[in-house]
Amino acid sequence: MRLAVVGFGGVGRAFVELLVLKRSLLYDEGLDIKVNYVINSRAGVYAPDGIDCASLIKFIQKDNDLSHYKNGGSKNINFDSIMNKKDIDVLVEMTPTNKKTGEPGMTYVKRALENGIHVITSNKGPIMLAYKKLNMLAARHSVQLGIGCTSGGALPTVNGGLIDMAGSAILSIEGVLNGTTNYILEQMEQEGITYHEALKKAMEIGIAEADPTLDVEGWDTASKLLILTNILMNEEKTIEDVSVEGITGITPEQIEQAKQEGKKYKLVGRTQNKAGALYMTVRPEKLDEWHPLYRIDGKNKAVRYVSDTLGDLTISGGASGVTPAAASILRDLINIHRGYRYSR
Ligand SMILES: NC(=O)c1ccc[n+]([C@@H]2O[C@H](COP(=O)([O-])OP(=O)(O)OC[C@H]3O[C@@H](n4cnc5c(N)ncnc54)[C@H](OP(=O)(O)O)[C@@H]3O)[C@@H](O)[C@H]2O)c1
Repeated sequence: MRLAVVGFGGVGRAFVELLVLKRSLLYDEGLDIKVNYVINSRAGVYAPDGIDCASLIKFIQKDNDLSHYKNGGSKNINFDSIMNKKDIDVLVEMTPTNKKTGEPGMTYVKRALENGIHVITSNKGPIMLAYKKLNMLAARHSVQLGIGCTSGGALPTVNGGLIDMAGSAILSIEGVLNGTTNYILEQMEQEGITYHEALKKAMEIGIAEADPTLDVEGWDTASKLLILTNILMNEEKTIEDVSVEGITGITPEQIEQAKQEGKKYKLVGRTQNKAGALYMTVRPEKLDEWHPLYRIDGKNKAVRYVSDTLGDLTISGGASGVTPAAASILRDLINIHRGYRYSR
């Protein structure tokens, strides 16, 4: 399989490192991978017979400019170079998320699919905005669109629903889909501290990002819920359809009160059907001890699907960070190689 790696930041580099680390496993799978392109926003590397990934990883640790790479680095290698030659089978798209336009990923994903190239993306933007259209495009061109990384990374929310619940209708979705907020709420409960103190702690140990707004205000959870709802419940909802409330207003008194009642606050993303209408909400909810999401602690995540014929299934755990995110991309790649079809 010939690959183009587009986006060579945290996840992109971890992905190329994994290809080196997992070489013998991939060989056992019968997967002979050649990375023909690695591209970032400023330059790229092209090697028609495959880039030496181990050497490129060593190089990028010392010099951040891909155009300086001796074996094929150039400022003139970009996405158009790939589309001009079309000498790849899979586009691995890992550019930054833009939730309003989906760009640049939207154009990259579309053009690759239109040209009969499989796509695996870690980028929520295009998937939140246009999953159904992109998936139809993939089907029309007999290629696959792998998006397992876009909603939970290592936690197999997408593939668990698509593959392991095939033939069953998913009636409702609920999940603790954001590890940062789950950690903050747990700290408030265990240490009796305020939201701001818990957030500060999460930032100090690298769990919360420098700008945690999207996490703490619930938008990250809403984006993941939207992706899962559209894919697994065959909907075409938008982010405006989700009623979103984050955890910034939670007080130590509320947390203590829940504790006294034997309950815990979790930031829950929920899609449910009420009298024929679909409701999507993200908000802090007090969960009883019997609830399957009650024991999802620390920065763990989980999703629960209630279905018509397979019952009530909860998937939990999974590592977080760039390597697990990259590993979820590799998982999609192997599944495509094995012949799994993501398109309905
Ligand atoms: N980090 C995670 O744990 C994680 C988990 C799941 C999903 N994701 C998603 O995966 C994607 C990548 O995340 P990341 O953490 O690797 O981001 P990142 O470190 O910011 O890397 C983004 C990469 O995309 C490149 N890029 C930007 N604009 C481009 C363009 N127009 N054409 C080609 N390349 C372009 C950047 O180039 P420069 O190097 O030149 O700036 C950079 O190499 C994001 O959509 C993110 O939301 C991340």
